[in-house]
Amino acid sequence: MSAVTINGRPETLPDDPDSLLADVLRDRLGLTGTKLVCGAGVCGACTVLLDGVPVASCLMPVKAAAGRTITTVEGIAATGLHPIQRAFMALDALQCGFCTPGFIVEATAFHDNWRKAQGTTTPSREEIGAALSGHLCRCGAYDNILRAVAEACSGRFDAETSAAPRVEARDKVTGSAKYTVDIRHEGQLEGLIVRSAVAHGKITSLDFAPSRALPGVMAVISLLGDDKMVRYVGDPVAAVAARDHTTARQAAAAIGITYEELPSVIGLDAARKPDAPLVFERSSRKKAANVSEGSPAPAPWKQNVRGPSAAFSHKTKTVRGEIASAAAANDPLLIKGVFRTAGQSHSCLEPHATVARFDGDYLTVHVSTQAVFHVMELIAKRYKLGHDKVRVIADHVGGGFGSKGSLGVDTIAAIELARAAKAPVRVALDRHDELSVTGHRPGTEIDIALLPSQAGELKAVSLTAWSDNGAGVNSTIAALARLIYPAEAKALTDFDVVSNLPPGAPFRGPGGPPMAFALEQAVDEAALRLQIDPIKLRQRWDTDPNRRRLYEWAAGLEAWRNVKPASSKSGRYRRGVGVASGYWLYLWQPGSKVELAIKGGRLIASTAIQDIGTGSRTVIANTVAREFGLDPHEVEVRIGDSILPEGPGSGGSRTTASVVPPTLLAIQKLKGVIESNAKRKPLPGSNAPWRELLATSGDISVSATRPEDSRHLAPGVRSPLKEAGFMGAIFGWMLRRFSNLAVGSGVPSSVQVIEVEVDTWLGHVRVLNVHTGIAVGKLAAPALARSQAAGSVIQGIGYALYEGREVDPLRGHILTAGLEDYRIPGIADTPNIDVHFDEAGFDHVLGGSVGIGEVATVPTSPAVANAIRNAIGVRANALPIRPDRLVALLNQRSVA
Ligand code: FES
Ligand code: FES
Repeated sequence: MSAVTINGRPETLPDDPDSLLADVLRDRLGLTGTKLVCGAGVCGACTVLLDGVPVASCLMPVKAAAGRTITTVEGIAATGLHPIQRAFMALDALQCGFCTPGFIVEATAFHDNWRKAQGTTTPSREEIGAALSGHLCRCGAYDNILRAVAEACSGRFDAETSAAPRVEARDKVTGSAKYTVDIRHEGQLEGLIVRSAVAHGKITSLDFAPSRALPGVMAVISLLGDDKMVRYVGDPVAAVAARDHTTARQAAAAIGITYEELPSVIGLDAARKPDAPLVFERSSRKKAANVSEGSPAPAPWKQNVRGPSAAFSHKTKTVRGEIASAAAANDPLLIKGVFRTAGQSHSCLEPHATVARFDGDYLTVHVSTQAVFHVMELIAKRYKLGHDKVRVIADHVGGGFGSKGSLGVDTIAAIELARAAKAPVRVALDRHDELSVTGHRPGTEIDIALLPSQAGELKAVSLTAWSDNGAGVNSTIAALARLIYPAEAKALTDFDVVSNLPPGAPFRGPGGPPMAFALEQAVDEAALRLQIDPIKLRQRWDTDPNRRRLYEWAAGLEAWRNVKPASSKSGRYRRGVGVASGYWLYLWQPGSKVELAIKGGRLIASTAIQDIGTGSRTVIANTVAREFGLDPHEVEVRIGDSILPEGPGSGGSRTTASVVPPTLLAIQKLKGVIESNAKRKPLPGSNAPWRELLATSGDISVSATRPEDSRHLAPGVRSPLKEAGFMGAIFGWMLRRFSNLAVGSGVPSSVQVIEVEVDTWLGHVRVLNVHTGIAVGKLAAPALARSQAAGSVIQGIGYALYEGREVDPLRGHILTAGLEDYRIPGIADTPNIDVHFDEAGFDHVLGGSVGIGEVATVPTSPAVANAIRNAIGVRANALPIRPDRLVALLNQRSVA
């Protein structure tokens, strides 16, 4: 054993040469503020101070720490919050918080060194970016992190303060927030999923005996379906539970798996060929995963191609004729193109993880999930348990972005292993699995034709999208163009293309970003050909009142007023400005309930929702606090537990719109009860008496559900789906019937103006400034809404410039299965981000707020592409816009 000092206390650590410091800190000492994400020194989440110097504890053998002094995030606040922690809290430099401890540890070291050398001089963004460049944040909290570190170094947070717009911020900056991967029960086992090594095959035998014979192996189970088929590399086959991770790995390797390997087909182009091997026989098509949030609509199949795949697809009779005759006449206004987008991995920093435990027949499951209540229902249904026999808990969730909305195989494996082993089991995916098999935004190919008239009206639009879904169906991409740019003639057609690759999953605004990448570039091109300002053209073509207000704002931006044509630019580095629009549906989940109680004078709001970094705790705390004249921190918010009243999932930007109205209704009820019980009424025009009344009212509990008001529209507000006609109404009915999602009236909208600089020699693009205008009604938590808007932009920049899943086209392995290969944006990629909120447009919603997460990311990639077009005169038609692609485009133009 080696002696070390950890957070000021002497400890002895094992001499085991295989032990890594991160594991020992987390598993042996319970210092779970140190997070494990990549295990490869790339993300910085596991950073600790070794004799005051930041190191990646996931790479450090524990022996190397012998005799040294280690400080983890828990030790940083030992004698009060560090100025860096106060700054992160005050400036909301965090969202899900999973990366936060690593940033805090590194930034405190930077701060302390800086202050010693530079006093209270403020470091530049570049200096901070360089210091923190070894850290990744998938929520994209970088803009506020840069501000927080700068302001802490300048001395602004030297005085003790714990102000924070996010109610759980203190837990996240001190490392005390517990995520699923941090849960540890007495006697807990480590579970591991064993996955298919082939892209397509039938498992002819599974031999568990050698695995079960290993000491320390407590359970081995099969995860195969009745057909025993595997349809992609990484398809779950079996799972093991053992006393520790090393034994579980050995047990997994010892399972004998015999495959009858079948011909496979990898990727969009191969799968569309008429003679391609079939991924799903007719009888097994129902086994295809769902890449969308809504339930699949019926659609025809032809080999591996399914479609038109959405009830929302659309065609007017004249559209093909309009476009064909314009093509025949060589109409210079006809814009035709093929746009391709790469698959984008969610890359949540907390992996998909579950800890399952049976107490008799009562099942408690900690799950890293976007839907505690729904997952409880799914577990109860699958295992035929009463709702009172299953409890799903998610105190904190380290990101989801759409990938954690349903019952995952980690949860199934943990439950079945716990039952078989009669002990609690944790199944946490490693980074390889996280980047390979937990879903992704499918890559696409979109064929677009857009035809304006000579008079500048929009005559015809046609989009046909093929979605590279892997072993999944139900993409809706082209059809989303239904709700923007009304045209005389429109054809919108979606096809799923299935192949032997891991299936996609819903990802922030599913279908929206690829649709916008094609459509918004075509509109930009139309503006160039019509010689009209692109914002003015959108004002002419786009009738939505929310976006029309945003266009006015965008047109007034200095960056836009000074935009120059590409032809006026020269030199190696060229700057350009682009604009693009986006929208999302206003969705909410009927049945969502909020309970409001006074217990011992304290206000407690409860609902079974979860906070995946989007700030749902704070939204409820703010809403309650505002109505009672309290500070949000005085309101206790209980969420993340399925035993609470039914709450919505965190997907489709539904959470705020689903919980604010019942919260307000519960507040009205509670006030009514308090007032009728109180000896005196509150003074008119003052909130002060509520505090007194709460303290003296005795214990009361009320609850409220939002009325089913989706069909009752406010005067002057139109339903987007009704406007879309019969098929729109069908689409809305299906969402409500099969996905418990109501579509409200009004369209959450965004317009972005982006400035880039292009290096024409090396093809490198730097995003300099982003102006993002967002219309989602009133802001329930303004600081957090800004954080989410900025984070959405960062993810959009990743989609535009860096991120792309790469696959082995022969064997179907995912090649970008580590964060060193799958490039998400880092802090040094952060542009200046100016967020403009237009708070009108949703006054008909109780509380006036709808969700922001999806709409804020939709226009980023086309705005970047349009800015590149404005900078260098070439149009990028494939994402990510990598340097090699841009150089090739520039070379083509110079050849031409
Ligand atoms: Fe150690 Fe990522 S977990 S650097
Ligand atoms: Fe950084 Fe979520 S706040 S990963």
